[in-house]
Amino acid sequence: MSAPPDASPRPIIIDTDPGQDDAIAILAALAAPELAVLGITAVAGNVPLELTARNACILVELAGRPEVPVFAGCDRPLRRDLVTAEHVHGKTGIDGAELPEPVTAPQPRHAVEWMTETVLAAGEREITICPLGPMTNVATMLEAAPEAARNIREIVCMGGGFFGGGNTTPVAEFNVFVDPDAAQIVLHCGAPVTMLPQDVTHKALMTDAWINRVRGLGTRTGVAAAGMLEFYERYDVDKYGTTGGPLHDPNVIAYLLRPDLYEGRHCNVEVETDSPLTLGMTVVDWWGVTDRPSNCHYITDVDSNGFYNLLYTLLARLP
Ligand code: RIB
Ligand code: CA
Repeated sequence: MSAPPDASPRPIIIDTDPGQDDAIAILAALAAPELAVLGITAVAGNVPLELTARNACILVELAGRPEVPVFAGCDRPLRRDLVTAEHVHGKTGIDGAELPEPVTAPQPRHAVEWMTETVLAAGEREITICPLGPMTNVATMLEAAPEAARNIREIVCMGGGFFGGGNTTPVAEFNVFVDPDAAQIVLHCGAPVTMLPQDVTHKALMTDAWINRVRGLGTRTGVAAAGMLEFYERYDVDKYGTTGGPLHDPNVIAYLLRPDLYEGRHCNVEVETDSPLTLGMTVVDWWGVTDRPSNCHYITDVDSNGFYNLLYTLLARLP
């Protein structure tokens, strides 16, 4: 793990649309002593907001961390209709595991109100925000309180895709396609942004052996995670003809804990927010052929074995 033994835990906010891959990211973060999860903010994405908030409550309870507050945020993108992905994630968003109805409920405050208050009350460059879905919540905060960017240490998001195209349109990845305006606001907010796009997540595919190893933990987390992942990967295995599916969102948490597992480049990334043909495309100036500012640490490579070994170690810590 990256933090030296005497370092205090890194304060993070997970912004998410669970989603089976979000679920593994949340579980991994809650298992990592190097991270202090201040709260989980749900956003509409893979499934509608009511379900993403419910799923987040289920996940903090599954991890044995019911004290971690969950907040419900934006139920639709900034300026567009919501597009969901039940065909990938199932009707609940976390199909594949038999999980009890949550005992906890989302906090009464809106996620954006809580996020804004938390970030504004923090010190300069103190808080890390981890968007795992459409970036509507984060962008809404930044539009209302642009000064909040000063207290953000880093925005580490899963989203985008360039060299390998998109997974929702030929050129657009789901999180950015659902709310391209929000992604563009985040990329230009002034806080350091690290993007883990499909270009890297597709280089670390799950294997049946790994999923069975997780199930073999025999814990409620291991059994639930394996069930969710077997359900989740079927769509990508069928679509791409591969033997395993990518596990997108946990790469954000793995990057925080082990940045040495990843490689990328600081460059300019812009989002297409108008063209019907290329809406949501992340245009990456990888070779610096424009004079546009370098606003993103764009990650393209990962040590796949290191990633999955880290995830297994983290999941093994949970009940
Ligand atoms: O394109 C993959 C992303 O879209 C992941 O975050 C997945 O959970 C969905 O939100
Ligand atoms: Ca997600």
